Amino acid sequence: MHPAHVTVIFVLGGPGAGKGTQCARLVAEFDFCHLSAGDLLRAEQTREGSADGELIRTCIREGTIVPMEVTIKLLDTAMRAAIAARDAASAPGWGAGRGRFLIDGFPRKMDQALKFDETVCTSALVLYFATTEEVLLARLLERGKTSGREDDNAASITKRFRTYKVNTMPVIAHYAALGKVAEVDSTDSIEAVYGRARAVVEDVFAGKYNKI
Ligand code: C5P
Ligand code: MG
Repeated sequence: MHPAHVTVIFVLGGPGAGKGTQCARLVAEFDFCHLSAGDLLRAEQTREGSADGELIRTCIREGTIVPMEVTIKLLDTAMRAAIAARDAASAPGWGAGRGRFLIDGFPRKMDQALKFDETVCTSALVLYFATTEEVLLARLLERGKTSGREDDNAASITKRFRTYKVNTMPVIAHYAALGKVAEVDSTDSIEAVYGRARAVVEDVFAGKYNKI
């Protein structure tokens, strides 16, 4: 997929930073297709006949990263399906092989970043939601009361924080060095954070990051 036709914004931030919440709002306003790597992995884990179900289950419970081939294949397939499904759409950014994507919770590790850029599509920007570990922990424990997620418990959360620091912070540093990171403080209310996130997206469509 060519970045001239397909706009990809990676959405990163620690677990509980508000990636999913903010992506839902951006979809409603800008006609993105929102792909959450974690959601795609959870769906694949329970898909009948999946060869990777057990592997994914173990990684999610342990808070470790699923081997990149699995996740990149799921994303590539979902992107192609969205572009094909909306081929005749008149929505801005879609039709004639074009598309715009928010890829949430990806890339979580350098190997995923390099491989995706090389084999799927170069991303326009990383939208990075930043807040403190105290805020993340409080949100995840609150979410855990109703999310039904196997990894929203104190033991898994500790492991996810560690994986995030060791594997994902270097990804953010890599794209920051290329001038491709917009950091948004996500400590505030959903509404306040959204105001900042939507301004970043408007900058992307205005071409602010194209020259980098
Ligand atoms: O993003 P989310 O918190 O939903 O991800 C849940 C889990 O899915 C992660 O803790 C990790 O085990 C796995 N994952 C992954 N690679 C990604 C995204 C998620 O291995 N790019
Ligand atoms: Mg999520």
